[in-house]
Amino acid sequence: MTTASAPAPLTLPAGFRWGTATSAYQVEGAVSEGGRGRSVWDTFSHTPGLTHQGDTGDVACDHYHRLDEDLDLLADLGVDTYRFSIAWPRLQPTGRGRPEPRGVAFYDRLIDGLLERQISPMATLFHWDLPQDLEDRGGWRNRDTVHDFVTYARYCFDAYGDRVTDWITLNEPICPSLHGTGGYGHAAPGLRLGGPAITSAHHLLLAHGDAVRAYRNSAAAGRIGITLNFGPVAPASDRAEDLAAAARVDALQTRLFADPVLGRGYPDLLVRHWRELTDMGFVQAGDLERIAEPLDFLGVNYYKSWVARAAGLPPLADRVAMDMGAVLEPPPGVPRTGFGWGVTPDGLRTLLLDLRHRHPALPPLFVTENGCAYPDEVGPDGNVDDPERIAFHDAYLRALAEAVDAGVDVRGYTCWSLLDNFEWAAGYSQRFGLVHVDFPTGRRTPKSSFGWYRDLISTHRAAGVAA
Ligand code: FCB
Repeated sequence: MTTASAPAPLTLPAGFRWGTATSAYQVEGAVSEGGRGRSVWDTFSHTPGLTHQGDTGDVACDHYHRLDEDLDLLADLGVDTYRFSIAWPRLQPTGRGRPEPRGVAFYDRLIDGLLERQISPMATLFHWDLPQDLEDRGGWRNRDTVHDFVTYARYCFDAYGDRVTDWITLNEPICPSLHGTGGYGHAAPGLRLGGPAITSAHHLLLAHGDAVRAYRNSAAAGRIGITLNFGPVAPASDRAEDLAAAARVDALQTRLFADPVLGRGYPDLLVRHWRELTDMGFVQAGDLERIAEPLDFLGVNYYKSWVARAAGLPPLADRVAMDMGAVLEPPPGVPRTGFGWGVTPDGLRTLLLDLRHRHPALPPLFVTENGCAYPDEVGPDGNVDDPERIAFHDAYLRALAEAVDAGVDVRGYTCWSLLDNFEWAAGYSQRFGLVHVDFPTGRRTPKSSFGWYRDLISTHRAAGVAA
């Protein structure tokens, strides 16, 4: 492995936290072991034609069996925080009933292994792998799932709350609701239902708020928040249609979840559009207060910004899809990652500043995901050189540091991802890891970005100690 020359130190506060992130279905594999039940992503990935080359998470990175090796990689990297997710169907195979002891034991091992290595566990309760049995009862479209989720969350707080200091209720609720149930069906559960996708979004938010309250009433005494994804969008021109298209996309991508969670209710602009699809009868008295339960932090996932050009509204049923009648493109002239995503570091600074501007009572922020995919390969010398990834993280971290300089309270950064892994519908075609995984054998090879990130963390820590 080659290590790039040490970067100039970033001016981030001394206590700033450094980590990496993964999620259960993307790395664990062992889908039929330890009593685990099926999730909607097992069903989705096993449905012909829905994922790249029919890829599934059956084996993924085999993290379930290689736990110690992966924990050692984290220790080697020198991170102080590891963000992972708990698979609901490992703890409750059908989403209801007594916890499965083998599932509980797996995360005990993971959490204890982190603590032994002086790494703080940051646990996400729901990273999209809803137990299939609950989906068969209507999934997030069914309000009963809110109660089921809170019961599951309580089990987790009871089992791990003495050791997990940071909890994230949901990861990117837009995905299982609008993407998975709404417009295009390109994520589990793979439905195209229009209005019911909005019901799902609402129930996910309610489950979040109720889980936060359950946490406050539990014996655990750490921090809890939610992770939302943000895709800042600018109009392609100052034509009225482009301005309107950008405003619609912004409402959907940035404000739909952030506004209610931060106490501002649903954006009027969206509700006006949705009126044709739904009477919003699923929003019951008191729901918005439950959703706006105060948070200890807001998790921010940020990958890219967009430019929106008006394209005429899509058919009614598709109006919950993410484009909302806009063609979305990377800003002109920006480089693209291997996935075709625009490399837009400045958007991170703008996003963080905008969040603070829009929400005067904003809780501290934590960048819970940021990263890039490139077609990395192990070279003839056995190394994986990924200079684009180093440049990517460097640029985004500098934008983050500028926002901190301008007064935004950002507490940490868990880059996506520790390992190359199962990238949802894109299967194994996209490599986001600091560590290369040879999927047929499971062999791990740290990339040059791994060495770069390790140096960055140790330089920052040394500067903090010296200060
Ligand atoms: C995010 C997801 C994460 C990963 C990255 C690339 O939207 O939260 O699981 O797939 O994108």
